[in-house]
Amino acid sequence: MNTTSLATLGAERPARSTRLPAALLERLTLPVIAAPMFLVSSVALVAAACRSGIIGALPAANARTPEIFDQWLAELSGQLATATEARVAPWAVNLVVHRSNKRLEADTATCVKYRAPIVITALGGPQAVTGAIQSYGGLVFADVNTPEFAAKAAKAGVDGLVLVCSGAGGHTGPMAMPAFVASVREFFDGIIVVAGAMSDGAAVRSAQMLGADLVHMGTRFIATEESMAVAAYKDMVVESGFKDILCTNAITGAWANKLRPSLVRAGLDPDKLQPRTAFDLSNAEEDIKAWRDLWSAGHGVGQVKAVESTRTVVERLHQEYEAVLAAELDDPWMCRFRAKQC
Ligand SMILES: Cc1cc2nc3c(=O)[nH]c(=O)nc-3n(C[C@H](O)[C@H](O)[C@H](O)COP(=O)(O)O)c2cc1C
Repeated sequence: MNTTSLATLGAERPARSTRLPAALLERLTLPVIAAPMFLVSSVALVAAACRSGIIGALPAANARTPEIFDQWLAELSGQLATATEARVAPWAVNLVVHRSNKRLEADTATCVKYRAPIVITALGGPQAVTGAIQSYGGLVFADVNTPEFAAKAAKAGVDGLVLVCSGAGGHTGPMAMPAFVASVREFFDGIIVVAGAMSDGAAVRSAQMLGADLVHMGTRFIATEESMAVAAYKDMVVESGFKDILCTNAITGAWANKLRPSLVRAGLDPDKLQPRTAFDLSNAEEDIKAWRDLWSAGHGVGQVKAVESTRTVVERLHQEYEAVLAAELDDPWMCRFRAKQC
């Protein structure tokens, strides 16, 4: 399947209750993104996600240099161009648009070179990349964690917003999902992606009912065979539950959900961390350490029961989603409201 045909992504919309362009909808088996994860998402994970029919997202920062990032995109786009599955989902790149990211210009140029179908911006205003990415028909989604940041990103002309809600792995948001989606829908009619503890097919369906078009799943994919997480991190995800999650700003200055046992393993006392408010990405070494040794996961961690292939995870999501759709048809409330006779 040819991934460059996504230049038409912004074009036509199907006449259904989704804001996804027809060309995108056509290529998905589920409305899900395997979310970008620093030091976790690999080319293999993204390729496996896309070949299973969900969008796979790769943080540019996972490639140690802009040159390696270029090689990774050549490899990824090449692999997907020859994939034989009936639906091969488009791939996405995650760019940190914070002013301290010195690679932004080079990595944006690489996205343009390979016509990245979707770019997901994080930690700053998306206007730094919207023009370049939309010039060839690529879509820009901006990560936001409050309605105020959502409004700013919407004004910058993004195609979609990723609402990072409470419970998300990585840098989390403060707001509960239903309220966040409702408040953003008051002023934004584009694509909404929701992030935060979405781990099964029922969660995917519930997000659509709230008014979202896509679901961002991070934690669900840490313990996959293709992820770059070390084995001990994957095992910790499988063994952990909600009680093991600590929301702290002590590590990077921004609020993040971390796995308590990983802090203990690194010699820290999770109950005696010093809060930090200044957020700065200029010390790349320190940032890498914060994510390499202090592992992150969201509130959905308890739903991850084994290390599995990405395809197996997506197939299970598919079965769960199908079961929820089937149950909706037999639901007494559905019956009461549609036929008004049950
Ligand atoms: C280990 C880890 C690393 C992450 N790194 C990034 C990142 O580099 N860029 C980004 O935009 N989001 C990052 N995230 C957030 C995810 O993209 C996604 O929004 C989040 O995982 C969704 O919540 P969930 O983990 O509860 O599914 C990260 C999340 C985790 C768990």
